[in-house]
Amino acid sequence: MCSIIGYKGKNFAAPILVNSLKRMEYRGYDSVGVATIDEGKMLVRKGTGKVAEVNKKLDMSHMLGNIGIGHTRWATHGGVTDKNAHPHAAGDNKIAVVHNGIIENYKELKSELIKTGYIFASETDSEVIAHLLNLYFNETKNIKQALMKTCKRLQGAYAFVAVFDDGTIGGVRYEEPLIVGVAKDGYFVSSDVLGFLEHTDKAIFLDNGDITIVNDDKIQIFDFNGKPVDRPITQVAWELGDIDKGKYAHHTLKEIDEQKLSIVKAYNQEEARMKKFLRILRAAKNVYIVGSGTSYHSALVAKHVFGMYAKMRVEAVMSSESKYVLSFLDEDSVVIAISQSGETADVLDSVRLAKSQGVKVLSIVNVTTSSLARMSDAFLGTNSGPEIGVAATKSFTAQLIIIYALADRLCRGKLGLDKEKLIHAVDSVLSNKSTIEKLAQELKNNKDLYLLGRSLHYPIALEGALKVKELAYVHAEGIAAGELKHGPLALMEKNTIVMILNPHDTTFNDTISNAHEIKARGATVVGLSDQKEDVYDYWIPIPALSEEAFYPIVEVIPLQFLAYYLAVGKNIDPDYPRNLAKSVTVR
Ligand code: AGP
Ligand code: GLU
Repeated sequence: MCSIIGYKGKNFAAPILVNSLKRMEYRGYDSVGVATIDEGKMLVRKGTGKVAEVNKKLDMSHMLGNIGIGHTRWATHGGVTDKNAHPHAAGDNKIAVVHNGIIENYKELKSELIKTGYIFASETDSEVIAHLLNLYFNETKNIKQALMKTCKRLQGAYAFVAVFDDGTIGGVRYEEPLIVGVAKDGYFVSSDVLGFLEHTDKAIFLDNGDITIVNDDKIQIFDFNGKPVDRPITQVAWELGDIDKGKYAHHTLKEIDEQKLSIVKAYNQEEARMKKFLRILRAAKNVYIVGSGTSYHSALVAKHVFGMYAKMRVEAVMSSESKYVLSFLDEDSVVIAISQSGETADVLDSVRLAKSQGVKVLSIVNVTTSSLARMSDAFLGTNSGPEIGVAATKSFTAQLIIIYALADRLCRGKLGLDKEKLIHAVDSVLSNKSTIEKLAQELKNNKDLYLLGRSLHYPIALEGALKVKELAYVHAEGIAAGELKHGPLALMEKNTIVMILNPHDTTFNDTISNAHEIKARGATVVGLSDQKEDVYDYWIPIPALSEEAFYPIVEVIPLQFLAYYLAVGKNIDPDYPRNLAKSVTVR
C-alpha cells in the first residue's frame, strides 16, 4: 500500500531514494521520509505531503551518505502526521525502519516493549519493528539474528527495510512485495521494480519469508531460520519512458488517451501462453473469476461474454467476498484472477484459498513479475505498461480485450474479434473528449449521478460510477436498468442526473423505456448511444458496433473522461485521489 526503498552503493543515496519515491508515489502518498547513514551517523527527515512538497520543505535529496532507506506512506495505523511518517528510528538512531503493511499483533508487542523501557515516538504499528530489531540486536550483537528473531515475533503482512548505523541494510518480505535491484555500483531493495528500473533491469524477486542483507558490497538471502536460499536474477523489461507524463497534465489523462495502443498490445499474446491458458480453462467444469474494484467489473463482463458466446457458465466473485463463497471448490474447478497490479491482497487471498483446495489458478495480470503471475498455473499479460494513475483505465480495456480473445477462441471465432474495427471505434470515442469536457462542466455541481445499464452494460455502469466516485468525489451509483422499478425509481426527481448506457443492441428497447420512466419523473437523462433520441437531454455519441459484446470498450472511455474532467473542474488531482492507493496490499 506504500512504497519502501533501500539503497547501498557508490553514489549519494538521498537523491536516488527521493527519485525512486517519486516513481513509486502512486502506491501511497500521504507522507514521505528518508534516512541515510553518513559516516556512521543516522540522519532522518520526514513529513506529511507528497514527495515533491516534502522534499522542497526538508531538502531530503541533499542528505549525505551513500546508504539509505525511504518511504511513502498510506496510513493504516495512526493519523497522517509528521511523527507517524516513516522511517521510524530506534536505539538512539542506531536503526531506522520503513514498513509496508500491517503488524496485527503490534499492541501486544508495543506494551511488552514499553514495559522493558522502550519509548515510542509514533502511533504506528510499524514502530514496533524498529524497537524489536534494537532489542534483539542488543541481545545478540548480530544483525542477521536480530532480523530473524524480529520476524518470528511479527504477525500480519509486511515488507520492511531497515538500515543500521554500521551501513548494513536488511530487508524482509512477508505477504507484501519486496524486490532486490542489482546495479553495477550498488543494490536496491524496493517494493516495485519502478523504484530502481532507471538504474538497473536486473531484479531478484524475494519470496515470502525471505530475508536479505546487503553489506560489504554483496547480498545474502536466507529464510526466517537463517538457512540460505537461492533466488535467480531476472531481467525485467519495462520501458521507463512510459512512466513520464509527457505533454499531459496528468497520468490519468495520458493513460485514457493511450488506450488505442494498449488495446493493440493486449491483442498481442504469445500463442503458447494462450494455448496453455485455454487448455486449463477448457478442462474445467466450474469457472470462477475473481477480482477487486475495476478488475471485478472485468470479471462481470467476462461472465456475460463467456456465457453469451462460449456458452460457458462462469461465476464472478469479488475477491474480498471469496472466502465466504469459494471455500467449497473441487478439483474440477478453475479460478481466474484478474488484476492490474497482481499484488492486491484480497485477490492473492482468493488465489491461496483456491490453491489450498487443489484448484488450478489462471490469471489476467498487467504486472507480469507480480506475486499473482508467479502463483498462477498460467497467466496472460495485459501488456498495458505501467499504469500510474490510481484509477484503472487502460488496464481495464486491456483486460476486456483478453476476455474477448479467450471467448472468441472458445466459441471458434463466432465473436468475430476484429482488431482494426475495434481500434477505429476506440479512436472515434477518444477524439470526442471535448464533448465530455463540456458535459462535465455542466454537471460539475451535481452531488449525485446514476448510471443505468442492462446485461453487459451493467458492469460498465458500475465501472463508470466507480471512476466518478474515486476521481471526482461525487456520489455515483451503477444500477441494473431492470431493477429501476424495484426501488431506485423513488430517487428520480427534478435535478437528478441519470446516464443511460443505451446502444442499439438487444437491450435497447427495454432501456429506452427506463429512460422515459425517468424523464417522466423530471430527471435529466444523458444518453450514451450510437443514435440520438428525443428523450435524451444530453447525448454522448458512441460508434455503432457489429457485435454487442464490444460496447463496454466504447462506453467506458467516455465515462473515464467524464470522471477525469469532473475531478479537474473541482481542482482535485485525478492521479492521486484522497485516501486511495494504487495497489491495495492490505486487507
Ligand atoms: C480502480 O480505479 C481502483 N483504483 C481499484 O478499484 C482497483 O481496480 C482495485 O484495487 C484492484 O486493483 P488490481 O486490479 O491491481 O488488483
Ligand atoms: N501500517 C503502517 C502505517 O500505518 C504502514 C502503512 C503503509 O504500508 O504505508 O504507518
